[in-house]
Amino acid sequence: MIVLFLQIITCFLFTATASSPHGFTIDLIQRRSNSSSSRLSKNQLLGASPYADTVFDYSIYLMRLQLGTPPFEIVAEIDTGSDLIWTQCMPCPNCYTQFAPIFDPSKSSTFKEKRCHGNSCPYEIIYADESYSTGILATETVTIQSTSGEPFVMAETSIGCGLNNSNLMTPGYAASSSGIVGLNMGPSSLISQMDLPIPGLISYCFSSQGTSKINFGTNAVVAGDGTVAADMFIKKDQPFYYLNLDAVSVGDKRIETLGTPFHAQDGNIFIDSGTTYTYLPTSYCNLVREAVAASVVAANQVPDPSSENLLCYNWDTMEIFPVITLHFAGGADLVLDKYNMYVETITGGTFCLAIGCVDPSMPAIFGNRAHNNLLVGYDSSTLVISFSPTNCSALWS
Ligand SMILES: *[C@@H]1O[C@H](CO)[C@@H](O)[C@H](O)[C@H]1NC(C)=O
Ligand SMILES: *[C@@H]1O[C@H](CO)[C@@H](O)[C@H](O)[C@H]1NC(C)=O
Ligand SMILES: *[C@@H]1O[C@H](CO)[C@@H](O)[C@H](O)[C@H]1NC(C)=O
Repeated sequence: MIVLFLQIITCFLFTATASSPHGFTIDLIQRRSNSSSSRLSKNQLLGASPYADTVFDYSIYLMRLQLGTPPFEIVAEIDTGSDLIWTQCMPCPNCYTQFAPIFDPSKSSTFKEKRCHGNSCPYEIIYADESYSTGILATETVTIQSTSGEPFVMAETSIGCGLNNSNLMTPGYAASSSGIVGLNMGPSSLISQMDLPIPGLISYCFSSQGTSKINFGTNAVVAGDGTVAADMFIKKDQPFYYLNLDAVSVGDKRIETLGTPFHAQDGNIFIDSGTTYTYLPTSYCNLVREAVAASVVAANQVPDPSSENLLCYNWDTMEIFPVITLHFAGGADLVLDKYNMYVETITGGTFCLAIGCVDPSMPAIFGNRAHNNLLVGYDSSTLVISFSPTNCSALWS
């Protein structure tokens, strides 16, 4: 998800970066950018690679992790579009209802509130969908699994203890999510705080069925037959994983971004596991929609029953819809499955193109629905995002 507003008391930011030996800086990325040739031999020496089980919940993907001592399991949204890790936190005066018990720091011997001038350090984070979390910053032990069989323990990880949080996913219902795990390149994200010999490697394989995993470090390298790679772009002060979207094809019709205000230069879209649909700026988005509309002649267009204002049709199968291909610079032409690009409304009988149009002042986002059944690898050390078509529900079952 995109963060619209983030306020963290300044003294925290300084201490966090200064005290974290694994702070992920642009320097580090560039120095590592030609290290792929040495990766294999290093891998073999290292062996262990952290990972977590993932869970699907309608439009979001969650991962299991443990907080505190003794370890307490939480399930939180996987978000490569933000950096803060936060969880609902007792006494939680203004929390949303969640299925799982809420983390209680008073029961953990390793929970430590951050201090800012003798007081606690408040934070406030507001996401683009208007959901938010406010609370206090702390350090706590975070534990996930590892391929070595031993747990992967991250002592003194910066987290937000969320005391006033909203849940827009299922307003009025209990949520499966206890919070959000930020995974972008910002200093407080989970990946930035991991002490890994090769930083910045993440892979996941999302499926609407079954369980799956998110991998970090050496096990997150995506390679093999059918793997395609897109160039990753890094922008100053914007710790997102940017890609260049060169064109979108609707069936055989290729719509270039070149010649439009959305043309690909140094990253015109970022990939975000925490956003469901894909968002394109309105004028280019309309070209794509017109091409879809020109191809779908058998069905009646209807207004989007949700507030997303998607292009929707009254129809009961995906068969009539054109195949969408996203062409990314670097050589990744992703021919997306119909499930990745069309969504059926909850009530059924209506299918919508999973591409939303946004004001050009908002960033374009490559959202998680389109990542389904692709093994997606983020490698910020070599500046590549890899995609490998995979039956994700079969991968680790
Ligand atoms: C990167 O590594 C390759 C293979 O080792 C080498 O041929 C190339 O010159 C290197 N590039 C830079 C910019 O160092
Ligand atoms: C909770 O946080 C939101 C966002 O910062 C704020 O608008 C709201 O007033 C807060 N509610 C309480 C009870 O503090
Ligand atoms: C993917 O794997 C699951 C679990 O093994 C299987 O049930 C399903 O049929 C497979 N899907 C395809 C398209 O092969």
